[in-house]
Amino acid sequence: MLLIKNIGLLATPLGTKSLCGAEQGAIQKLHDAQVLIDDGRIISVTADGEELVYPADTIVIDAEGALVTPGLVDAHTHLVFGGWRAHEVPLKIAGASYLDILNAGGGILNTLTNTRNSTEDELYERSRGFLAEMLNFGVTTVEIKSGYGLNLEDELKQLRVIRRLGETIPQDIVSTFLGAHAIPDEFSGNADGYIDFIIEKVLPRVAEEKLADFCDVFLESSVFNVEQSRKLLLAAQKLGLPAKIHADEIDPLGGSELAGEIGAVSAEHLIATRDSGIEAMAKSKVTACLLPQTSLYLDKPFARARDMINAGVPVAIATDFNPGSCPSLNLQLSMNLGYLRYRMYPEEVLTAVTLNAACAIGKGEKVGSIEEGKFADLVIWKENDLPMLCYRMGSNQAKTVIKKGIVYETY
Ligand code: NIG
Ligand code: FE
Repeated sequence: MLLIKNIGLLATPLGTKSLCGAEQGAIQKLHDAQVLIDDGRIISVTADGEELVYPADTIVIDAEGALVTPGLVDAHTHLVFGGWRAHEVPLKIAGASYLDILNAGGGILNTLTNTRNSTEDELYERSRGFLAEMLNFGVTTVEIKSGYGLNLEDELKQLRVIRRLGETIPQDIVSTFLGAHAIPDEFSGNADGYIDFIIEKVLPRVAEEKLADFCDVFLESSVFNVEQSRKLLLAAQKLGLPAKIHADEIDPLGGSELAGEIGAVSAEHLIATRDSGIEAMAKSKVTACLLPQTSLYLDKPFARARDMINAGVPVAIATDFNPGSCPSLNLQLSMNLGYLRYRMYPEEVLTAVTLNAACAIGKGEKVGSIEEGKFADLVIWKENDLPMLCYRMGSNQAKTVIKKGIVYETY
């Protein structure tokens, strides 16, 4: 057994369902707390100095009065890719936009070439390194999307890398099929044909080999429109893959409204979301997965997080780690921006990167809160309160990371 004692403040949302409205910030705060762990799960939590009974050979960790929260959940990454895209930054300085670069055959299509040219082993080794870095920042559960293969063989290759990561690394991994991430050269000018190809040839293989938990689409100007996205996501739902949508990242084309209409689990980005999109998401309880580092990196506005919370939309916050619009895998930085730029309170931010993020990727029953029965995923922080954690920026605030009862000291 493992005991964490002397926890100054144990802060955690509660439950297995995403929290919205006033509930998003109504977290539990226990003082002078202890957590007892057995076989990778939390078996007991006490507060106010109440002693726990435990066997003599229990390993005891002294939190020294620090803040302890659930392990962080990064609910949106594109972590498996070849190459980087540092050469795009000078193009942006000279005035090119994200879509200008994509339309000129760069952007995602550049990463596509580098990913197709990488072997499964190369992608695996590199991704493993990224995930080790994330664990060091306190991230114990990660969603990873495909979408840099864009043909049958290379999408399956990426998804197999994701599956292998899930089988071999400490974190829990959730896999999302994002075959509709861009239009590959083979289908240039024929987005409809590419969507049909995915539905007929790729999706059935993905479902058959159980390579993905969700299906996502990049619904955006010069990528996929509402009709194409609806067709794909309904086909995916029929095969048992719940929907996610990259919606309103640059232009508000009806992505968040579609998420409400088809009952997507989450809509992501939502930088340019209109009132009608917020209403549709609130009605269907679609989780808004917001990515503030992408707003920073693309020099775009920050999503209307306060309006979403006020309207009753559950809000999650993630990184979007990818080589084009967010080359950062530090979820703590998303928390800082959530506090400062989304104007979310620290309690709301915590729920956004733990329970709501877990629910956005179907893991609410297992992770996202510190409660009996859930996986023993916790972070002991260098700070002793939540506002400090959201305020300090740029350095790693995680001190000790615990994943399913295994202890990792940060470096
Ligand atoms: O979430 N928008 C689409 N996908 C990513 C960017 C991927 C890339 O540029 O490589 C995003 O921002
Ligand atoms: Fe993304």
